[in-house]
Amino acid sequence: MIVLGIESSCDETGVALVQAQGERVPRLLAHALHSQVDMHRAYGGVVPELASRDHIRRVLPLARAVLAEAGVTLAEIDVVAYTRGPGLAGALLVGAGVACALAAALDKPAVGVHHLEGHLLSPFLSQDPPTFPFIALLVSGGHTQLMRVDDVGRYELLGETIDDAAGEAFDKSAKMLGLGYPGGPALARLAAFGNPAAFDLPRPLLHSGNLDFSFAGLKTAVMTQLKKRGTNVCEQDKADLAAATQAAIVDVLVRKSMTALRQTGLGRLVVAGGVGANAQLREQLDAQCAKLGARVHYPEIELCTDNGAMIALAAAMRLQRGTVQVRRDYTFGVLPRWALAEA
Ligand code: KG4
Ligand code: ZN
Repeated sequence: MIVLGIESSCDETGVALVQAQGERVPRLLAHALHSQVDMHRAYGGVVPELASRDHIRRVLPLARAVLAEAGVTLAEIDVVAYTRGPGLAGALLVGAGVACALAAALDKPAVGVHHLEGHLLSPFLSQDPPTFPFIALLVSGGHTQLMRVDDVGRYELLGETIDDAAGEAFDKSAKMLGLGYPGGPALARLAAFGNPAAFDLPRPLLHSGNLDFSFAGLKTAVMTQLKKRGTNVCEQDKADLAAATQAAIVDVLVRKSMTALRQTGLGRLVVAGGVGANAQLREQLDAQCAKLGARVHYPEIELCTDNGAMIALAAAMRLQRGTVQVRRDYTFGVLPRWALAEA
């Protein structure tokens, strides 16, 4: 079974082909990506209308590229998968529309996929794939969640952010430090030159006794520190503040993940979403999981941020288990807001 996957929920157009055989973990045949980062940079963030228009421009050339790279013809595609939500409505509609049109033309089924399900299954395409059950730490620009994952489609939300997402905290702090968009990777680069102990930043909800997160106070704390320094803020201050911000975010994510492992007694952690690319986060999760005797699994770095491979993979894994609504009527509706536990 060959699945073509299309991702268009935000500012990346991704297309990929995976192949599933029997019950084995599906194999990635090819994937291609176009990031809109350069286009949105001028505006300091994603402009939804521009995102939608760019997805329209990119999706078919990317589809042609993956078919050529994999040596697969259109006729050999068995299922067309797309991101149904959550995400930007207009952007999602582009992928859904193209996927359903293609499926109709090929007389093959179309499958709508939950974006976060794609992220949390993405480590199955890595050199070191996990096995079920595991704890998933989902950390992206829009979400911060800890889930218990017993199998594909069996997700229990253990805790989530009550305000900003971890990626948002990176992005907003980076903006205040004048680092532009996207902020996460830029802040991480600057943090390498700073001393995280130079500023004492808050770690909200660290001792809340539950697995929820809160990051909105962090940007206020960063702003307060910058205001205190006023015009005297030097490059070293900025690097120190970047390091302290990263340390605060990473500290909370790591400690809550360890609590989730201890509370459930599970021995595996899967980290997914854009913030999962953060080197400091990976280093500390590796160290703490080793102490706990738990294994930690990551997607390959290139599949940490949004991509089509995770969408094709999630559809293929659901199809293998028969737990997906396969549509042949080619009508489609996207779900800009959609809880993973309801997918
Ligand atoms: O999963 P993703 O690509 O898109 C969403 O679904 O949101 O995540 C994007 C987020 C952004 O907030 C970005 O700043 C953050 O992931 N990010 C990072 C790093 N790379 C991406 N944050 C910290 N360190 C990184 N290396
Ligand atoms: Zn994402």
